Order: sequence, then C-alpha cells, then structure tokens
Amino acid sequence: MHTLEHVDSPQTKYALYHQICEQLHELIGDETNFIANAANTCSLLFQSLPDVNWVGFYIADHRELVLGPFQGKPACVRIPLGKGVCGTAAAQRRTLLVGDVNQFPGHIACDAASQSEIVVPLLNWGKMLGVLDIDSASLNRFDEEDQEGIESVASVFLSSQTTNDLPDLSDTAAES
Ligand code: SME
Repeated sequence: MHTLEHVDSPQTKYALYHQICEQLHELIGDETNFIANAANTCSLLFQSLPDVNWVGFYIADHRELVLGPFQGKPACVRIPLGKGVCGTAAAQRRTLLVGDVNQFPGHIACDAASQSEIVVPLLNWGKMLGVLDIDSASLNRFDEEDQEGIESVASVFLSSQTTNDLPDLSDTAAES
C-alpha cells in the first residue's frame, strides 16, 4: 500500500499539483472502480490542498448529478443539469471558476461557509461522467493555476476509467 508520508512540502502550486498527480497515480494503480478511485481522489485533495472546506464528486445520472464520494460537510444529493455551479459546469462541459459564489446566479449553498468554488467536468472521451467540485471558505481561493492543476488531477482519475462501452474505432473494426 502506498503511503503519503515522508513527502516534502512543495514550494509552488505547480509543484503541489504535480505531487498530487503522482500520488494519485500511485494510489489508483490498476484499480478501475469508479467509487474507490473517486473516494481516494477526494481524500487526497482534501488532505493536500490548503484552505478548502469541501471536495467531492457529483455523478451524472440522466438529467441530474447525484452526490458521490466527498470530504466535508453533508451536501445536497441531487442537482439538475444546468442548475447551480455544478449543473452549469456539467451542462456547458467546461470548468467554472467562481471567485464569489454569492455572485453566481442559482448557486446552491450546501455549506454556508463556502465563498468560492471550482467545478471541473469529467469527460471520458466525450461522455459526461460527472463533475469534481471543490469549495473554499475564502473568496477568490482558486486561480487559473489551480484550474490547470485540478484539471490534471481529474485527468489522472479519468485515466483509471475503462472505455469498454465506447465504439471501437480501431482499423480492424473499421474494416469489418
Ligand atoms: N455549490 C454547488 C453545490 C454543491 S456544494 O458546493 C457541495 C453548486 O452550486 O452547484
């Protein structure tokens, strides 16, 4: 079992996210289970990132997002696509950086302490699996460097997911 002890404190945000990606890669190994890998992704981010109060997954289920593995206070269970920061990021299929959640129309407040938020959509070869949501009790906690870093972490998580139900576009399949 990989442990997270004896790791030097990174000096820059870039170094921090690089370290998180490497640790997540080690933690996942060859495991493909969505829940297990999502749970470890949340835990690692929650333990590693300063000044965050909630880290979690919302999983796509038809026209809704449903609460998945998370760290932090209990949260709302279902978010319709297009609603709140999470549902908007999922519907628009793009990362949303919200410096002040009180200024975001339709923001869904799960923890009244949350002031800023970043939501990264999880796209697996074009298929929307859900979103990774991170909240902070500080205004403007997340910047473009965090966005790049958290998107990289999401990519490491996504690389553990199988693509069994995707069309086979290999040469052999195309010829048959
Ligand atoms: N604030 C989110 C809801 C989820 S919580 O932050 C955990 C939103 O507006 O979609």
